[in-house]
Amino acid sequence: MPDSSIQELEELPPDAAVAADHRNPRRRQNRQAQREEEPEVGILVNSDPSHDLAGLILHPGVKQQILDGLRSIRIRDQLEEVWSISRLQPQLGRCILNFYGAPGTGKTRAALGVAHRLGQPLYQVDYSAVISKYLGDTAKHIKRAFERATHHGAVLFLDEADSLLSKRVSLDESCATSINQNRNVLMQELDRFEGVVVMTTNLFGNYDDALLRRVQQHIEFRLPDASMRRELLALHLPNPERVKANLRSLAEQSRGLSGGDILNICLNAIHAGSRDPDPAKWVVTQEMLLREIKRAKAAKEKHSGRKTCGRRIGFRA
Ligand SMILES: Nc1ncnc2c1ncn2[C@@H]1O[C@H](COP(=O)(O)OP(=O)(O)OP(=O)(O)O)[C@@H](O)[C@H]1O
Ligand SMILES: [Mg+2]
Repeated sequence: MPDSSIQELEELPPDAAVAADHRNPRRRQNRQAQREEEPEVGILVNSDPSHDLAGLILHPGVKQQILDGLRSIRIRDQLEEVWSISRLQPQLGRCILNFYGAPGTGKTRAALGVAHRLGQPLYQVDYSAVISKYLGDTAKHIKRAFERATHHGAVLFLDEADSLLSKRVSLDESCATSINQNRNVLMQELDRFEGVVVMTTNLFGNYDDALLRRVQQHIEFRLPDASMRRELLALHLPNPERVKANLRSLAEQSRGLSGGDILNICLNAIHAGSRDPDPAKWVVTQEMLLREIKRAKAAKEKHSGRKTCGRRIGFRA
Protein backbone atom coordinates (compact mmCIF):
# COMPACT_ATOMS: atom_id res chain seq x y z
CA MET A 1 0.00 0.00 0.00
CA PRO A 2 1.43 3.41 -0.92
CA ASP A 3 2.34 5.56 2.01
CA SER A 4 0.33 8.75 1.46
CA SER A 5 2.39 10.74 3.96
CA ILE A 6 5.57 9.94 1.99
CA GLN A 7 3.89 10.82 -1.33
CA GLU A 8 2.73 14.05 0.16
CA LEU A 9 6.21 14.68 1.42
CA GLU A 10 7.79 14.28 -1.99
CA GLU A 11 5.58 17.07 -3.36
CA LEU A 12 6.45 19.57 -0.68
CA PRO A 13 9.06 22.27 -1.29
CA PRO A 14 12.51 21.17 -0.06
CA ASP A 15 12.58 22.94 3.30
CA ALA A 16 9.07 21.92 4.23
CA ALA A 17 9.89 18.39 3.07
CA VAL A 18 12.85 18.28 5.42
CA ALA A 19 10.68 19.48 8.27
CA ALA A 20 7.89 17.03 7.47
CA ASP A 21 10.42 14.23 7.12
CA HIS A 22 11.66 15.05 10.55
CA ARG A 23 8.14 14.74 11.93
CA ASN A 24 7.31 11.54 10.07
CA PRO A 25 7.40 8.85 12.80
CA ARG A 26 8.09 5.98 10.39
CA ARG A 27 11.06 7.68 8.80
CA ARG A 28 12.27 8.79 12.20
CA GLN A 29 12.21 5.18 13.40
CA ASN A 30 14.03 4.02 10.27
CA ARG A 31 16.65 6.67 10.72
CA GLN A 32 17.11 5.71 14.34
CA ALA A 33 17.40 2.00 13.45
CA GLN A 34 19.89 2.81 10.69
CA ARG A 35 22.00 4.83 13.13
CA GLU A 36 21.99 2.03 15.66
CA GLU A 37 23.10 -0.46 13.02
CA GLU A 38 26.13 1.62 12.08
CA PRO A 39 29.27 0.44 13.86
CA GLU A 40 30.70 2.37 16.80
CA VAL A 41 33.98 4.02 15.91
CA GLY A 42 35.05 4.95 19.40
CA ILE A 43 34.66 4.35 23.09
CA LEU A 44 32.77 6.61 25.44
CA VAL A 45 34.71 7.18 28.66
CA ASN A 46 33.01 8.87 31.57
CA SER A 47 35.37 11.12 33.44
CA ASP A 48 35.25 11.07 37.24
CA PRO A 49 36.79 13.14 40.06
CA SER A 50 39.91 10.95 40.06
CA HIS A 51 40.66 12.42 36.61
CA ASP A 52 40.71 16.01 37.80
CA LEU A 53 43.53 18.13 36.39
CA ALA A 54 44.61 18.82 39.96
CA GLY A 55 45.98 15.26 40.16
CA LEU A 56 48.45 15.86 37.34
CA ILE A 57 52.04 16.75 38.11
CA LEU A 58 53.24 19.00 35.33
CA HIS A 59 55.95 21.58 34.71
CA PRO A 60 54.94 25.10 35.82
CA GLY A 61 52.68 26.81 33.33
CA VAL A 62 51.51 23.67 31.53
CA LYS A 63 48.29 23.32 33.52
CA GLN A 64 47.64 27.02 33.00
CA GLN A 65 48.15 26.58 29.26
CA ILE A 66 45.51 23.84 29.24
CA LEU A 67 43.11 26.03 31.20
CA ASP A 68 43.78 28.98 28.89
CA GLY A 69 42.84 26.75 25.97
CA LEU A 70 39.51 26.01 27.59
CA ARG A 71 38.88 29.57 28.73
CA SER A 72 37.72 30.72 25.32
CA ILE A 73 34.81 28.31 25.63
CA ARG A 74 33.80 29.47 29.09
CA ILE A 75 33.85 33.15 28.12
CA ARG A 76 32.38 32.80 24.63
CA ASP A 77 29.31 34.93 25.44
CA GLN A 78 31.50 37.80 26.56
CA LEU A 79 33.80 37.34 23.55
CA GLU A 80 30.77 37.61 21.33
CA GLU A 81 29.43 40.65 23.12
CA VAL A 82 32.70 42.59 23.10
CA TRP A 83 34.38 41.37 19.92
CA SER A 84 31.57 39.85 17.80
CA ILE A 85 33.96 36.96 17.65
CA SER A 86 31.61 34.73 15.70
CA ARG A 87 32.44 36.80 12.61
CA LEU A 88 36.04 35.67 12.95
CA GLN A 89 35.42 32.20 14.29
CA PRO A 90 31.94 30.86 13.55
CA GLN A 91 32.31 27.75 15.74
CA LEU A 92 32.36 29.44 19.11
CA GLY A 93 32.29 26.20 21.07
CA ARG A 94 35.22 24.72 19.23
CA CYS A 95 38.64 24.31 20.72
CA ILE A 96 41.38 22.00 19.46
CA LEU A 97 44.20 21.15 21.84
CA ASN A 98 47.29 19.19 20.92
CA PHE A 99 49.23 17.50 23.72
CA TYR A 100 52.63 16.34 22.53
CA GLY A 101 55.68 14.86 24.18
CA ALA A 102 57.49 11.76 25.35
CA PRO A 103 55.57 8.58 26.19
CA GLY A 104 54.17 8.33 29.71
CA THR A 105 54.22 12.05 30.47
CA GLY A 106 50.48 12.26 31.20
CA LYS A 107 48.93 13.31 27.87
CA THR A 108 46.10 10.77 27.88
CA ARG A 109 45.52 11.40 31.56
CA ALA A 110 45.32 15.15 30.86
CA ALA A 111 42.69 14.58 28.15
CA LEU A 112 40.52 12.93 30.79
CA GLY A 113 41.26 15.89 33.05
CA VAL A 114 39.99 18.28 30.37
CA ALA A 115 36.77 16.28 29.97
CA HIS A 116 36.28 16.24 33.71
CA ARG A 117 36.89 19.98 33.95
CA LEU A 118 34.22 20.55 31.28
CA GLY A 119 31.81 18.07 32.91
CA GLN A 120 31.70 16.01 29.71
CA PRO A 121 32.51 12.42 28.80
CA LEU A 122 35.35 11.63 26.41
CA TYR A 123 34.71 9.99 23.04
CA GLN A 124 37.96 8.17 22.26
CA VAL A 125 38.20 7.44 18.56
CA ASP A 126 39.17 3.86 17.80
CA TYR A 127 41.38 3.89 14.70
CA SER A 128 41.00 0.16 14.13
CA ALA A 129 37.28 0.83 13.63
CA VAL A 130 37.77 4.05 11.66
CA ILE A 131 40.35 2.91 9.14
CA SER A 132 38.83 0.61 6.56
CA LYS A 133 40.21 -1.13 3.54
CA TYR A 134 37.02 -0.33 1.64
CA LEU A 135 37.15 2.82 -0.42
CA GLY A 136 35.04 5.56 1.10
CA ASP A 137 34.40 3.80 4.40
CA THR A 138 37.19 5.52 6.31
CA ALA A 139 35.78 8.94 5.40
CA LYS A 140 32.32 7.76 6.49
CA HIS A 141 33.74 6.54 9.80
CA ILE A 142 35.54 9.82 10.42
CA LYS A 143 32.25 11.68 9.99
CA ARG A 144 30.59 9.22 12.29
CA ALA A 145 33.18 9.80 15.04
CA PHE A 146 32.34 13.50 15.06
CA GLU A 147 28.63 12.72 14.97
CA ARG A 148 28.92 10.37 17.95
CA ALA A 149 30.93 12.88 19.98
CA THR A 150 28.28 15.50 19.23
CA HIS A 151 25.49 13.06 20.09
CA HIS A 152 27.07 12.29 23.48
CA GLY A 153 28.06 15.91 24.15
CA ALA A 154 31.58 14.57 24.54
CA VAL A 155 35.12 15.81 24.12
CA LEU A 156 36.45 14.18 20.95
CA PHE A 157 39.68 12.42 21.73
CA LEU A 158 42.23 11.53 19.05
CA ASP A 159 44.84 9.68 21.08
CA GLU A 160 48.11 9.15 19.22
CA ALA A 161 46.64 11.26 16.47
CA ASP A 162 49.74 11.07 14.28
CA SER A 163 48.51 7.67 13.14
CA LEU A 164 45.59 9.52 11.52
CA LEU A 165 47.05 12.89 10.79
CA SER A 166 50.59 12.50 9.61
CA LYS A 167 52.06 14.25 6.59
CA ARG A 168 51.46 13.28 3.02
CA VAL A 169 53.54 10.33 1.93
CA SER A 170 54.28 9.19 -1.58
CA LEU A 171 52.37 6.03 -2.24
CA ASP A 172 50.77 4.71 -5.40
CA GLU A 173 48.24 7.09 -6.89
CA SER A 174 44.96 5.44 -5.83
CA CYS A 175 46.15 5.03 -2.27
CA ALA A 176 47.37 8.65 -2.11
CA THR A 177 44.01 9.91 -3.45
CA SER A 178 42.13 8.04 -0.79
CA ILE A 179 44.47 9.28 1.95
CA ASN A 180 43.97 12.85 0.82
CA GLN A 181 40.19 12.44 0.64
CA ASN A 182 40.19 11.16 4.18
CA ARG A 183 42.36 14.02 5.31
CA ASN A 184 40.05 16.54 3.67
CA VAL A 185 37.03 15.01 5.37
CA LEU A 186 38.81 15.16 8.69
CA MET A 187 39.69 18.84 8.20
CA GLN A 188 36.10 19.65 7.22
CA GLU A 189 34.77 17.83 10.26
CA LEU A 190 37.24 19.65 12.51
CA ASP A 191 36.04 22.93 11.01
CA ARG A 192 32.40 22.09 11.61
CA PHE A 193 32.68 20.56 15.05
CA GLU A 194 31.21 22.67 17.84
CA GLY A 195 33.11 21.16 20.73
CA VAL A 196 36.46 20.38 22.24
CA VAL A 197 38.94 18.12 20.46
CA VAL A 198 42.00 16.84 22.27
CA MET A 199 44.71 15.13 20.27
CA THR A 200 47.90 13.62 21.59
CA THR A 201 51.09 12.53 19.91
CA ASN A 202 54.69 11.50 20.51
CA LEU A 203 55.51 12.51 16.92
CA PHE A 204 54.47 16.14 16.61
CA GLY A 205 56.78 16.67 13.62
CA ASN A 206 54.59 14.32 11.59
CA TYR A 207 51.46 16.51 11.67
CA ASP A 208 50.63 18.28 8.45
CA ASP A 209 50.33 22.05 8.11
CA ALA A 210 46.58 22.13 7.48
CA LEU A 211 46.09 20.54 10.85
CA LEU A 212 48.59 22.74 12.67
CA ARG A 213 46.67 25.80 11.52
CA ARG A 214 43.50 24.53 13.20
CA VAL A 215 44.98 23.86 16.62
CA GLN A 216 44.44 26.51 19.30
CA GLN A 217 47.11 25.37 21.71
CA HIS A 218 50.08 23.07 21.28
CA ILE A 219 51.08 21.97 24.74
CA GLU A 220 54.32 20.18 25.40
CA PHE A 221 54.50 17.47 28.06
CA ARG A 222 58.14 17.15 29.10
CA LEU A 223 59.75 14.50 31.27
CA PRO A 224 59.48 15.38 34.98
CA ASP A 225 62.36 16.97 36.91
CA ALA A 226 63.61 15.59 40.25
CA SER A 227 61.07 17.35 42.45
CA MET A 228 58.21 16.29 40.12
CA ARG A 229 59.49 12.70 40.17
CA ARG A 230 59.34 12.82 43.95
CA GLU A 231 55.73 14.01 43.79
CA LEU A 232 54.95 11.29 41.24
CA LEU A 233 56.41 8.65 43.56
CA ALA A 234 54.31 9.95 46.45
CA LEU A 235 51.20 10.09 44.23
CA HIS A 236 51.58 6.49 43.14
CA LEU A 237 52.33 5.15 46.64
CA PRO A 238 49.05 6.14 48.24
CA ASN A 239 49.63 4.74 51.74
CA PRO A 240 52.71 6.62 53.07
CA GLU A 241 52.66 4.72 56.37
CA ARG A 242 53.53 1.54 54.52
CA VAL A 243 56.36 3.11 52.54
CA LYS A 244 59.79 2.73 54.15
CA ALA A 245 61.81 4.69 51.63
CA ASN A 246 63.49 8.01 51.00
CA LEU A 247 61.52 9.36 48.07
CA ARG A 248 63.88 12.28 47.55
CA SER A 249 66.87 10.01 46.91
CA LEU A 250 64.75 7.66 44.75
CA ALA A 251 63.63 10.65 42.70
CA GLU A 252 67.28 11.52 42.08
CA GLN A 253 67.96 7.95 40.96
CA SER A 254 65.04 7.94 38.53
CA ARG A 255 66.34 10.63 36.21
CA GLY A 256 65.00 10.24 32.66
CA LEU A 257 61.92 8.29 33.72
CA SER A 258 58.37 9.44 33.01
CA GLY A 259 55.24 9.51 35.18
CA GLY A 260 54.10 6.34 33.39
CA ASP A 261 57.41 4.63 34.29
CA ILE A 262 57.00 5.74 37.90
CA LEU A 263 53.47 4.33 37.96
CA ASN A 264 54.83 0.94 36.85
CA ILE A 265 57.72 1.08 39.34
CA CYS A 266 55.31 1.77 42.20
CA LEU A 267 52.86 -0.93 41.10
CA ASN A 268 55.63 -3.53 40.84
CA ALA A 269 57.04 -2.52 44.22
CA ILE A 270 53.58 -2.68 45.80
CA HIS A 271 53.11 -6.22 44.45
CA ALA A 272 56.58 -7.22 45.65
CA GLY A 273 55.80 -5.80 49.07
CA SER A 274 52.40 -7.52 49.36
CA ARG A 275 53.51 -11.16 49.20
CA ASP A 276 53.14 -12.00 52.88
CA PRO A 277 49.87 -13.84 53.64
CA ASP A 278 49.24 -11.30 56.39
CA PRO A 279 48.31 -7.90 54.84
CA ALA A 280 49.31 -6.22 58.12
CA LYS A 281 52.93 -6.93 57.13
CA TRP A 282 52.76 -5.44 53.66
CA VAL A 283 55.31 -2.66 53.12
CA VAL A 284 57.19 -1.09 50.22
CA THR A 285 60.89 -0.61 50.93
CA GLN A 286 63.67 1.47 49.46
CA GLU A 287 65.27 -1.69 48.00
CA MET A 288 62.08 -2.75 46.24
CA LEU A 289 61.66 0.65 44.65
CA LEU A 290 65.31 0.94 43.74
CA ARG A 291 65.27 -2.47 42.07
CA GLU A 292 62.28 -1.42 39.96
CA ILE A 293 63.90 1.91 39.06
CA LYS A 294 67.01 0.08 37.85
CA ARG A 295 64.88 -2.31 35.81
CA ALA A 296 62.91 0.51 34.23
CA LYS A 297 66.08 2.39 33.32
CA ALA A 298 67.73 -0.72 31.89
CA ALA A 299 64.64 -1.47 29.78
CA LYS A 300 64.60 2.10 28.49
CA GLU A 301 68.28 2.02 27.61
CA LYS A 302 67.88 -1.26 25.79
CA HIS A 303 64.89 0.09 23.89
CA SER A 304 66.60 3.33 22.87
CA GLY A 305 69.58 1.31 21.59
CA ARG A 306 67.29 -0.81 19.47
CA LYS A 307 65.11 2.00 18.13
CA THR A 308 64.71 1.95 14.37
CA CYS A 309 63.70 4.82 12.13
CA GLY A 310 60.26 3.34 11.31
CA ARG A 311 57.47 5.91 11.07
CA ARG A 312 53.75 5.77 10.94
CA ILE A 313 51.76 6.62 7.85
CA GLY A 314 48.32 8.21 8.00
CA PHE A 315 45.15 6.40 6.87
CA ARG A 316 46.71 3.14 5.83
CA ALA A 317 44.30 0.31 5.35
N1 LIG B 1 52.27 14.24 34.71
C1 LIG B 1 51.69 13.23 35.36
N2 LIG B 1 51.03 13.46 36.52
C2 LIG B 1 50.45 12.44 37.17
N3 LIG B 1 50.48 11.16 36.74
C3 LIG B 1 51.12 10.89 35.61
C4 LIG B 1 51.75 11.91 34.85
N4 LIG B 1 52.31 11.36 33.76
C5 LIG B 1 52.03 10.05 33.81
N5 LIG B 1 51.31 9.76 34.92
C6 LIG B 1 50.86 8.41 35.30
O1 LIG B 1 51.16 7.53 34.25
C7 LIG B 1 49.95 7.00 33.67
C8 LIG B 1 50.12 6.93 32.17
O2 LIG B 1 50.19 8.25 31.64
P1 LIG B 1 49.55 8.61 30.24
O3 LIG B 1 48.95 7.39 29.64
O4 LIG B 1 48.66 9.78 30.41
O5 LIG B 1 50.83 9.02 29.42
P2 LIG B 1 50.89 9.46 27.89
O6 LIG B 1 51.66 10.75 27.85
O7 LIG B 1 49.54 9.47 27.30
O8 LIG B 1 51.78 8.31 27.26
P3 LIG B 1 51.81 7.78 25.73
O9 LIG B 1 52.47 8.85 24.92
O10 LIG B 1 52.64 6.55 25.82
O11 LIG B 1 50.41 7.49 25.33
C9 LIG B 1 48.86 7.92 34.14
O12 LIG B 1 47.61 7.27 34.22
C10 LIG B 1 49.36 8.37 35.50
O13 LIG B 1 49.09 7.38 36.48
MG1 LIG C 1 48.63 8.33 25.74
